[in-house]
Amino acid sequence: MSSQRLRVFDTTLRDGEQSPGCSMNLHEKLTLARQLERLGVDVIEAGFPIASDGDFDSVRAISKELSETIICGLARTGNLDVERAGQAVESAKKPRIHVFIATSDIHLEHKLRMSREQVLEEVDRAVRLARTYVDDVEFSAEDATRSDRDYLVQVFDAAIAAGASTLNVPDTVGYTTPKEYGALIDYLSGRVTGAEDAIFSIHCHDDLGLAVANSLSAIRAGARQVECTINGIGERAGNTSLEEVVMALSVRSDEFGGLKTGITTQEIYPTSRLLSSITGVQVQPNKAIVGDNAFAHEAGIHQDGVLKAAITYEIMTPESIGRASNELVLGKHSGRHAFSDRLIELGLKVEGEDFERAFRRFKSLADAKKVIYNEDLEAIVSDSVHTIEDRFSFESLTLTCGSGRAPNALVRLGLDGVSLEQAATGVGPVDAIFRAISELLKTSSELIQYQVHAVTAGLDAQGEVSVTIEEDGRRVIGNGVHEDVMVASAKAYVNALNKLEWHKKRRDVDAPRGI
Ligand code: KIV
Ligand code: ZN
Repeated sequence: MSSQRLRVFDTTLRDGEQSPGCSMNLHEKLTLARQLERLGVDVIEAGFPIASDGDFDSVRAISKELSETIICGLARTGNLDVERAGQAVESAKKPRIHVFIATSDIHLEHKLRMSREQVLEEVDRAVRLARTYVDDVEFSAEDATRSDRDYLVQVFDAAIAAGASTLNVPDTVGYTTPKEYGALIDYLSGRVTGAEDAIFSIHCHDDLGLAVANSLSAIRAGARQVECTINGIGERAGNTSLEEVVMALSVRSDEFGGLKTGITTQEIYPTSRLLSSITGVQVQPNKAIVGDNAFAHEAGIHQDGVLKAAITYEIMTPESIGRASNELVLGKHSGRHAFSDRLIELGLKVEGEDFERAFRRFKSLADAKKVIYNEDLEAIVSDSVHTIEDRFSFESLTLTCGSGRAPNALVRLGLDGVSLEQAATGVGPVDAIFRAISELLKTSSELIQYQVHAVTAGLDAQGEVSVTIEEDGRRVIGNGVHEDVMVASAKAYVNALNKLEWHKKRRDVDAPRGI
């Protein structure tokens, strides 16, 4: 089915969540799913319901809440997988089950230990079972790009005959090249029985840095669903980046025959920022479209050109992706109403106690800092929205340090609602703060990474600290934002410890990750 409309299938919550440090809890997944709907994606792959109770609950919660977008749950071909996916998407207005099995001889021999005939039987049974739950079934031939082409035709024939309407051709290991991938889509669409009524989908990994180029080539060859993630997060080197594919199609629509997506491009940057603030994983500064430097003109000759006419060096505007940065938005006299209106304009939905907390933070920031930018508001909101039930809360920090004296930190925290205080010295101020916190909370976690970045330009910028810690093989990232970087550090560490605590309480069944 070749039309002028490309479906955008977002798998940030499933394949993306498989990136180290990117795991999200239910509340965070719901928040991101709402933003993905605002962004205008056609399909949200909300999780892999059999993988864990947490995944199941998130797919179910997202299915209950969203009404515009197709909500999809992933399943291997086993009956339990398909049944669990069926139950998870049951209350979605537009439910989909995504069934997959590997088709390359490499996977058949070493992983599945099945014959080609057995795999064909699995496809038939699983897709038929999925159709008893939903009308919309997608089938994926895992490792398609290293599979025998004619066998792939047979597999897709079987999937269509059993009732699948979307056929996904994953480049699971990021092995293909643009020419080869486009030719594969062309080959399959010419040979699979019933292909004219099905949608060919593409799903690329970025191991050779070719995910976006491969996706665009397949789109040119007639694929009409692209699977992708925000900021390109995903297994290993990541997945096709949604923002890059969408903006390539928009900026070079002349090259792609005017093919349209349903994406509201102005929501791209807010979505990227939301994901980074939820996971604590920042995008690299030179990342296309959403990186800090993507619109920064450094060279004098470029600056001169842009000032004379932006078209000299700018192929798209920052505004087109919702990046109206450096805009003075609010000041210390702005009230609750103006604050709330501005958050709505930025697509930030904050309610109840979270709103009150964010407003108090805004007022105190406005006292300390003359100019408040959109980025400041986004940071305040991400810092004020409590996504999990926190056991520990940051209350205050007193720090004495300077040259010639050992830094001393006095930290006050709430532990299950009771205030506790602890002092500690350290090699540097951050060390002293972290020692005090870890003594107070008796954590045996190990500090893996500590990062600070300024939310905006200027010496009075808020500092955004992210802290990665690990305990028993579980890695989490905590974030803290404050105009005082030391306070931000304490908050980030406490946030990370809360996440670890939350994971300890979550009863995960043996999760079949790493697909
Ligand atoms: O990369 C892959 O093959 C996948 C499938 C489950 C679609 O993620
Ligand atoms: Zn994948």
